[in-house]
Amino acid sequence: MANLAPPSTTGVGADLRAATVELKAFSRRGFFTLLGLVSLATASLAATVLSLRFLLPNVTYDEPLLFKAGQPSDYPVGSTTIFTDKRAVLNRDADGFSAILLICTHLGCTPRWFQSDEMFRCPCHGSRYLRDGVRFYGPAPRPMDALLVGQAPDGTLYIDRSKIVARADRLKA
Ligand code: FES
Repeated sequence: MANLAPPSTTGVGADLRAATVELKAFSRRGFFTLLGLVSLATASLAATVLSLRFLLPNVTYDEPLLFKAGQPSDYPVGSTTIFTDKRAVLNRDADGFSAILLICTHLGCTPRWFQSDEMFRCPCHGSRYLRDGVRFYGPAPRPMDALLVGQAPDGTLYIDRSKIVARADRLKA
């Protein structure tokens, strides 16, 4: 036969119920305390990282846009020299030095030099350029940019990839 008596409010049963209620309250309180501490730690870490990032300078580790290209005597008249890693070309003609930026004006591929045809061909979509960078075939909308060629006081040539110049500009050296 089942015991239908109401739960006792004294004795071991009452102690057990009181302990259970206390444990539930502690667990809830503990959970929110832990949540608060984790949030505080996360916010502190984020603030520290952002503060340190602010102290560090914004330095670019890209290659410099200006680079040395050797002595004028390194280049015979009529030569075309490709600086593949710099994506630049140095031409020497009877009237001086000129340089072009070796970037296709269609979508930015690197055209290749074909000495036998004296032209650049873009491997991506077939644009073609004359030795001085003038486009004559394909989807490229315009010539490749002409770059500044300069000469340092010690005679060393340099090409500045950040300075676009007129196509007719020449360095006489
Ligand atoms: S990127 Fe050179 S032709 Fe398209």
